[in-house]
Amino acid sequence: MTQEEVFKNLTAHCKEYGFIFQSSEIYDGLSAVYDYGQLGVELKNNIKKYWWDSMVRLHENIVGIDSAIFMHPKVWEASGHVGAFNDPLIDNKDSKKRYRADVLIEDYLAKLEEKMNKEVEKGRKRFGDAFNEEQFRATNPNVLRSKAQYDAIHARMVKALNDNDLNEMRQIIVDAEIACPISGTKNWTEVRQFNLMFSTQLGNISGEDGTIYLRPETAQGIFVNFLNVQKTGRMKIPFGIAQIGKAFRNEIVARQFIFRMREFEQMEMQFFVQPGSEMEWFKKWKELRLNWHKAMGLGDEKYRFHDHDKLAHYANAATDIEFEFPFGFKELEGIHSRTDFDLGNHQRVSGRKIQYFDPEKNESYVPYVVETSIGLDRCFLAILSSAYKEEALENGETRVVLSIPAELAPVKAAVLPLVKKDGLPEKAQEIMDMLKFDYNCQYDEKDSIGKRYRRQDAIGTPFCITVDHDSLVDNKVTIRYRDTMEQERVDISSLKAVIAEKVDLVNLLKKI
Ligand code: GAP
Repeated sequence: MTQEEVFKNLTAHCKEYGFIFQSSEIYDGLSAVYDYGQLGVELKNNIKKYWWDSMVRLHENIVGIDSAIFMHPKVWEASGHVGAFNDPLIDNKDSKKRYRADVLIEDYLAKLEEKMNKEVEKGRKRFGDAFNEEQFRATNPNVLRSKAQYDAIHARMVKALNDNDLNEMRQIIVDAEIACPISGTKNWTEVRQFNLMFSTQLGNISGEDGTIYLRPETAQGIFVNFLNVQKTGRMKIPFGIAQIGKAFRNEIVARQFIFRMREFEQMEMQFFVQPGSEMEWFKKWKELRLNWHKAMGLGDEKYRFHDHDKLAHYANAATDIEFEFPFGFKELEGIHSRTDFDLGNHQRVSGRKIQYFDPEKNESYVPYVVETSIGLDRCFLAILSSAYKEEALENGETRVVLSIPAELAPVKAAVLPLVKKDGLPEKAQEIMDMLKFDYNCQYDEKDSIGKRYRRQDAIGTPFCITVDHDSLVDNKVTIRYRDTMEQERVDISSLKAVIAEKVDLVNLLKKI
């Protein structure tokens, strides 16, 4: 099965089992907006807790806040979002489809990279053990041709992005002969800037004065509360403020399921440091955040850093942690050194002094900021896309299993009476009552035990606890493990400990 087919199946699976629904589906949906269902919300909450605890509980110098989505419109002027939060947009005149010009070029570059990799694989097959990849890449004429093309286009794109040169962006698309994936033609409009912020009116005042924005990032809620938190929490630099919340962007091209949405959730942390120390902290946070991801065990090789080609208007260094989604390596989290851009601008625009008095240096300054910013929905997708497996079993059947890290699984255990009589449901219910205070559990007595196991595999439940007739006598139950499908007989009194060992969030937190 191709990765594309697996992704399609995963999307259908998310709906079938209550993880994710299209928003307003009964009205044919709203493009790039999704609702999380009964299992999706559990997984999402578990990811949030993992992130929150790793930031706020594990670091004495990081505190959390929950700021409002609506903010004074001047916030977005000061932050630069009104003037510079734009994407370069281009339309194909034949298909009438709209694209981000930089994404069209990036996709073209990805194809060139794929072409080079295919050539390398051919060489590897031809030369066997004697194959030297470095030498091959440096000498093979086909690879060299593609590489020269790649480097030239890439350099032009980076320059055009940094210079905000929209004509050059279009010229690159023309010169590279990039065609519209839908119409197949190269009949392009000019490239225009498109501001990504949604606006609305405050109260019943319409017109310029009442225009406010839905926040495109949660970070500004942290910046405008810098003094409040620093003073009331008596925080000493370096310190951080963390926040989880919704953000909104009017994305030009919204696709790939929950990867790029118009309403999404961010988990952001702004770390305030002494000017001059920001690169040291930038390095430290890169390492810490990568460890956070790797601790989930989705596969270390699925992550890589990618330094930004174009720095955002606020940054002096920026990198992405990319994850290998079924549609390739894509941004999962951004780590940015934002200098004093935000606090400095809020100080200038608000007219309030936003500074920190450093008792050690005996001076006041506007702190520098290193931020970590991860999309909760993308993290959700990373987990599900690596957890989703269609496994061929020895008996010729196939099982769909979600091997979600047990600590994050939406349902931790299912309690299943073998039959619906002879006092087994009552015994199972007793176990439910014992476990439900600690864990989200499901009780299921419908269908054969095999079918019930499959249902739990499909939603990623790490443990199935089966109550049979012997349980009434010996107070033991059978535990079946999701990943190995192995079964074990254990005392009911030891159930909590068996489950805790695998699902306790501390397991993940200790690995970071
Ligand atoms: N405060 C910095 C900031 O917002 P960003 O790189 O624009 O930086 C941070 O966004 C993260 O938010 C991204 O790495 C991504 O995971 C997530 N994100 C951004 N736009 C998104 C969208 N349209 N849909 C889903 N997640 C998105």
